[in-house]
Amino acid sequence: MRAIVAVTSNWAIGCKGNLLISNKADMQHFVQHTKDGTVIMGRTTLESFPGANPLPKRRNIVLTHDTNWSCKGAEVVHSVSEALTAASTDNPDKVWCIGGMSVYEQLLRYCDEVIVTMHDIIVPADAYFPNLDEDPHWMITASSEKFNTPSDISFRFVTYKQV
Ligand SMILES: NC(=O)c1ccc[n+]([C@@H]2O[C@H](COP(=O)([O-])OP(=O)(O)OC[C@H]3O[C@@H](n4cnc5c(N)ncnc54)[C@H](OP(=O)(O)O)[C@@H]3O)[C@@H](O)[C@H]2O)c1
Repeated sequence: MRAIVAVTSNWAIGCKGNLLISNKADMQHFVQHTKDGTVIMGRTTLESFPGANPLPKRRNIVLTHDTNWSCKGAEVVHSVSEALTAASTDNPDKVWCIGGMSVYEQLLRYCDEVIVTMHDIIVPADAYFPNLDEDPHWMITASSEKFNTPSDISFRFVTYKQV
C-alpha cells in the first residue's frame, strides 16, 4: 500500500475539515496516481468531497465506527484490519491511503511508500501528517523540480520509502 498526501512545510494537511491549499496541479497528480486503483479513507474525508460522493473510477473503502453509516458507491469497513482484508485482493501498488489525519496515522505502518506534495508555506491548521523527515524509518528516494501555484506557492513532489 502507498499513501498520498499534500502537506505544508510543517506537515499540516487540513483545517476545520478542509484542505489547506488549492492546487489544481496537485489534484491532477492525485488523480493520475489513484485512478483505477483502490482508495482507503476515513468517513470525515469522504464527507469532505463534493456532494460527499466517493471518488469516481476508483474502488472506495471508507472507515467508520458507525455500523448504520452507508454511502452509495463505497465499501464501508469498521476497523483497520477489516480495511486491510478488503484491500488485500488488490495489487498493493494500486492501493492508496488517502487520509485524513487519523487514517494516515493508523495506516502509515502498512505503507511502503508515501507520495508527498510539499508546499513551501505555513498556514493555520488542525490536522497533520507524521513528519517523515524526523522519522529514521523513512527516506527520500525522489524529488521533483519546484513548481508554483497560480497564487505563487512553490511546491514539489517528494517520494519517501520505508526502510
Ligand atoms: N492534505 C491532504 O492530502 C489530506 C487528505 C485527506 C484529508 N485531509 C484533511 O484531513 C482532515 C480530516 O482528518 P480526520 O482525522 O479528522 O478525519 P479522517 O481520518 O478522514 O476520518 C476520521 C473518521 O474515520 C473513521 N475511522 C478512523 N479510524 C477508524 C478505525 N480504526 N475504525 C473505524 N473507523 C475509523 C471514524 O469515523 P466515525 O466518526 O464515523 O466513526 C473517524 O471519525 C481534514 O481537514 C481533511 O481536509 C487532508
